[in-house]
Amino acid sequence: MIAIGCDHGGFTLKSTIIKYFDENRIKYKDFGCFNTESVDYPDIAQEVCKSIVSGECESGILVCGTGIGMSIAANKIKGIRAACCSDTFSAKLTKEHNDSNVLCIGERVVGQGLAIMLVENFLNAKFEGGRHLARVEKLEK
Ligand code: RB5
Repeated sequence: MIAIGCDHGGFTLKSTIIKYFDENRIKYKDFGCFNTESVDYPDIAQEVCKSIVSGECESGILVCGTGIGMSIAANKIKGIRAACCSDTFSAKLTKEHNDSNVLCIGERVVGQGLAIMLVENFLNAKFEGGRHLARVEKLEK
C-alpha cells in the first residue's frame, strides 16, 4: 500500500498520480488534502509518515508546490527518509542507495508526465543494501 498526500499547492498533481495508481491497480491510501483550500503541509506529511512508520503503508508520495516543505517535514519523523526529486535518476537512486521511503514532488516544479515517471522510478527501484546499509543505519542513529 502506498500512502499519498498533498497540500493545496500539490492537489492537482496528487489527483494525476492517483489516476495513474487507479489505472495501474496500485493500492494506495489518500491522506488528503481533498481540494485546493489552504492547508499546512506539515500536518499532511505527518499523517502519511505515521502510516509508514506503523507499517500500514510501505512507502509514500508527498506533493506540495515545491516538494521542499513536505520533504523537510517528513524528514523530521524518525524512520522516514524522504527525498525531494525532480529528475528520474535521483528518484531511482534514492531508493537504491538511501532506502528512501518517501518521494516528495513539487507540482510547480515538474510537469505531470515527468511526475509520473518519478513515481514509477521510485516505486520500481529496490534498495541495494551492501555498502549502503551501514550508511542508512547511521541515519537512523
Ligand atoms: C504553499 O503555498 C507552498 O508554500 C507549499 O505548497 C510548498 O511549496 C512548501 O514547501
